[in-house]
Amino acid sequence: MSFALKYAPKTLDEVVLGSITLKNKLAEYINGRDLKPLILYGGVGTGKTTIANLLPDAIEGRPAEITRLKAVEFGSFSDVTEVFGGPPMFYKLFTTNDQKRSYIVSNEINFTQKAAIAFRDIVDDMISHTQFIFTTNYIDQVDIALRDRSSCLVVPPVSAKDWLSRAQWILQQEGIVLPDDQLLKVLSAQLQVSSSNRKLLERLEDFVRSVRNPPSNPGGVIVEVPTPEPINPLMAA
Ligand SMILES: Nc1ncnc2c1ncn2[C@@H]1O[C@H](COP(=O)(O)OP(=O)(O)O)[C@@H](O)[C@H]1O
Ligand SMILES: [Mg+2]
Repeated sequence: MSFALKYAPKTLDEVVLGSITLKNKLAEYINGRDLKPLILYGGVGTGKTTIANLLPDAIEGRPAEITRLKAVEFGSFSDVTEVFGGPPMFYKLFTTNDQKRSYIVSNEINFTQKAAIAFRDIVDDMISHTQFIFTTNYIDQVDIALRDRSSCLVVPPVSAKDWLSRAQWILQQEGIVLPDDQLLKVLSAQLQVSSSNRKLLERLEDFVRSVRNPPSNPGGVIVEVPTPEPINPLMAA
């Protein structure tokens, strides 16, 4: 199993967060102070979908039932009202499983203009019982009125230091001991190439493999960690 899967966070606590603002804002959702739709935006692989999937559990304090919407399938006003307008009401006033709220998660929101207008009303009607969580790589393209109704939260790139303790834990699971300063070098070299945490986990996986099967290092001693070739950061996404 790839590290991106094997070590995908299982709870929100395991998500490496690169900003206190993000942490505090998520806390507001967890303790019920913010009910507005949440739009998580930022670069590829920073953890938007991961957070969107794990936040409902954190709010409920137990595994939550989530409805997933494919926003790309909403092309028109009637596409939206068909799903939400009922009958039969797709979304009920009462939550299932005695949950505090219902959860609708939609990744890569990219509504057409008409669908977005229909969505504004839906969001207003449902705010009291339903938590919307959207993710996007392109916040500028999200309907301005939907943005206005929502908390828009950037999920920023994470630093090597932020990653250190989780990366050490991962290496420990793999039976590998590496001093912090050496691990920090591996992490920062990779983060200079790409801010994607998915790519970082792939790099860690390669690293573990190279420690286990040193290509030209029969003694098995870690001599120097190969660093990836820097590439044009614009291409790195
Ligand atoms: N902040 C993070 N902390 C820990 N792992 C992460 C983080 N962000 C991403 N990952 C890893 O990368 C994978 C892809 O992340 P994902 O949430 O899909 O990124 P995005 O939606 O921002 O493109 C996850 O399955 C997880 O393994
Ligand atoms: Mg995503």
